[in-house]
Amino acid sequence: MPDALKLLTTRRSFKPIELSGPGPSAAEIDTLLTVASRVPDHGKLVPWRFIVFEGEARRAAGAAIAAAFRAKHPEATAEQAEAERERLTRAPLVIAVVSRAAPHVKIPEWEQVLSAGAAAMNLVLAANALGYGASWITEWYAYDRAVLDALGLRPHERIAGFVHIGRPPGVPEDRPRPPLAEIATRFPQ
Ligand SMILES: Cc1cc2nc3c(=O)[nH]c(=O)nc-3n(C[C@H](O)[C@H](O)[C@H](O)COP(=O)(O)O)c2cc1C
Repeated sequence: MPDALKLLTTRRSFKPIELSGPGPSAAEIDTLLTVASRVPDHGKLVPWRFIVFEGEARRAAGAAIAAAFRAKHPEATAEQAEAERERLTRAPLVIAVVSRAAPHVKIPEWEQVLSAGAAAMNLVLAANALGYGASWITEWYAYDRAVLDALGLRPHERIAGFVHIGRPPGVPEDRPRPPLAEIATRFPQ
């Protein structure tokens, strides 16, 4: 396991298609979900939940994605629909992070949404700490009502991300990062 600071300063995302099997074991998935749920959460509302897609279930969910795609694009070719069906099979494991943020008497909804983002990032970091690569994506189907219904999301729930997890192809190159001088100031300026 890389040490924490090294992981945090070198981690990169991979494309879902680059993440191969075998994916995490059942025990490792428990670890991933445990770490993902260990995040700051104002009011202890647990304003997020997770949906695990593994094996054949990935293609079953893909069928709903393909059906929604066809409904939106009746002119789509069979090939295009098939590519949509395979959306969740690119990596061996996909975990959807679902935001359950809702109006609350004391806790702003914004803070609940941020907690879901933290859960998604913890999930990404936990996957990397276990030696896997990860990709936090949403893509169009995260915003499609028919797909969300098929995945069992209630009307107020939203997808924070579909985190794809699998074995990375190697060590990735870094991408440019914003210079600290451009994003951090000391008060007063
Ligand atoms: C909420 C959220 C949704 C994202 N959705 C996508 C997406 O749909 N497609 C995509 O290519 N990257 C998406 N990204 C960006 C990738 O996760 C990733 O940040 C980027 O590819 C480079 O990341 P790295 O700095 O972790 O290597 C999303 C990021 C966030 C935070």
